Amino acid sequence: MSTFHLVNHPLITHKLTIMRQIETSSKDFRDLLDEISMLMGFEITRDLPLEDVEIETPICKTTAKRISGKKLAIVPILRAGLGMVDGLLRLVPVARIGHIGLYRDPETHEPVEYYCKMPPDIENRLVILVDPMLATGGSASDAITKLKERGCHNIVMMCLVAAPEGVARLQKDHPDVNIYSAALDEKLNEHCYIVPGLGDAGDRLFGTK
Ligand code: PRP
Ligand code: URA
Repeated sequence: MSTFHLVNHPLITHKLTIMRQIETSSKDFRDLLDEISMLMGFEITRDLPLEDVEIETPICKTTAKRISGKKLAIVPILRAGLGMVDGLLRLVPVARIGHIGLYRDPETHEPVEYYCKMPPDIENRLVILVDPMLATGGSASDAITKLKERGCHNIVMMCLVAAPEGVARLQKDHPDVNIYSAALDEKLNEHCYIVPGLGDAGDRLFGTK
């Protein structure tokens, strides 16, 4: 069974509260998602392995630590996942970026794929899959299946708001993928939107409603 990490640092929780509010503008929504993504990145990268390196300071030679060869890839689920990329990139500027385009069919709520482009060596990388909303879990589950088909075996999921239904679905479909979220909300409504949630993340991010 994978683990569910609630990343509820007060700064993150405060910023998320502003994002949830209906009157928050697209610009502020975008800026806050970017800030939260960077803050969550600290938690996600906490266990990156370190290795010794011999260096020389202005005072003496010494053995210090640096992140060992582990390579990262950030994979946003389009569209809304795009809003989480830059915050992570500021922490790990050399990470490669893959893209998976999925939208939820408004009737069936099932994900429909329309785009997929990955770095060629994605299978050798720790993949951070990002999407602000984990609702039914269908989109994230399909995206992880696609990544596994390409040989990825080291994947974590980072979202902003999760529903219990989405967490259960991911843990059932992909018990090897740990989940990081800034909030675990109450439930889904009849349209499979997260309650209380923040509405349609893509529309709020890009001002398309
Ligand atoms: C939203 C969201 C997730 C998905 C979550 O995307 O960004 O990708 O829904 O729902 P699920 O867990 O039930 O699959 P949407 O389909 O609205 O596409 P968009 O980002 O292009 O607006
Ligand atoms: N997608 C969103 O953007 N919001 C939700 O609440 C559920 C799916």
